[in-house]
Amino acid sequence: MPTENKKIHLCLAHMSGNEQRFIDEAFAENWVVPLGPHVDGFEEDLKKYLISEKPDCPGKEVAALSAGTAAIHLALVLLGVGHGDTVICQSFTFAASANPIVYQGATPVFVDSEPESWNMNPAMLERAISDCVAKGRKPKAIIAVHLYGMPARIDEICEIGRRWGIPVVEDAAEALGSDYKGRPCGTFGDYGVLSFNGNKMITTSGGGALICPDAESKKRCIFYATQAREPFPYYQHEHVGYNYRLSNISAAIGRGQMTILEEHIAHHRRLAALYAGLFAETEGIIYHSNPTPDSDSNYWLSTIVIDPEKTGLTPEDLRQHLATLNVETRPLWKPMHLQPVFADAPAYVNGVSESLFERGLCLPSGPWVTEDDVRMIVKEIKSKIKKP
Ligand SMILES: Cc1ncc(COP(=O)(O)O)c(C=O)c1O
Repeated sequence: MPTENKKIHLCLAHMSGNEQRFIDEAFAENWVVPLGPHVDGFEEDLKKYLISEKPDCPGKEVAALSAGTAAIHLALVLLGVGHGDTVICQSFTFAASANPIVYQGATPVFVDSEPESWNMNPAMLERAISDCVAKGRKPKAIIAVHLYGMPARIDEICEIGRRWGIPVVEDAAEALGSDYKGRPCGTFGDYGVLSFNGNKMITTSGGGALICPDAESKKRCIFYATQAREPFPYYQHEHVGYNYRLSNISAAIGRGQMTILEEHIAHHRRLAALYAGLFAETEGIIYHSNPTPDSDSNYWLSTIVIDPEKTGLTPEDLRQHLATLNVETRPLWKPMHLQPVFADAPAYVNGVSESLFERGLCLPSGPWVTEDDVRMIVKEIKSKIKKP
């Protein structure tokens, strides 16, 4: 049982112990600005982890930014998405995947999920594109997401994008450390997005990164991220810019976090295997595991789907019960096509994301969650199941 003052969170920031040393260095050298050696070093660390030692993505570069949302926004800016354009986006995701479409004055078209990975359904994507094209509104980009760290069928999605000549923005905000067919998530799309928010696999307190196709696009990304200042001695602006660069202090935290990334991933996967084993024989509860050997999720969050008929339970029953034990849980993301703010956006739906929203629950998975915590959580869930 959790002690009275221990709250079990979904995924809470956890320091390696090296962060303070990098921060102290920044202070000692007075690099307390949104550029500097830790920003460069953090980009190098990410590049080494995701790209340099992998044969599949030659030439890609990483730009460190103030948020994952900023990275999605800048990807759309760099792809030339503007007023009146159409952008296809996975419906089953967090609002940050879709909001930047609207920042650019474009219209989102939402596409539902396939039941195996819970991510964008390639057949529905194809249908959405061909409908948009038939209406004379060829989409300017596709935003696909690896939700909860579970890889999407990203190679098929990219192949569809290539065939239609539509670039893919790969939202890997939750998927640092996940692989698909042996290749890191975030490196498949024309652009890849990472988040280092406080609840992610690693944190910079708040931050993100854009994985760019080459050095030139990284240069353009940083140009827009630093107010689009032209190379003049005075301030000359020929484009609208943004203040989206990562601070050197946040990057110092990120460098410390990179020393513990592998351990975090191993921990999430260990807890996932434990949850999966403990739920294996439980009628009416399905633990969301890698659907095929191609997928190697980081299990950012552990997620279950509850059959109300077989268990006599709803996710809300369990959420409320676990809250009384100081255990944080959360419903799965509410699909974007059900969000009032996107009520007018076209959507291609098949019921998958709506059913997941009604029946799913996220369980604690972060570095502070112990194996005993998992055993207690599963025991509590099982104790509430009403036998028919
Ligand atoms: C799927 C997804 N996309 C984008 C984001 C945005 O990242 P950030 O919070 O760093 O802006 C998040 C996380 O917050 C996310 O979960």
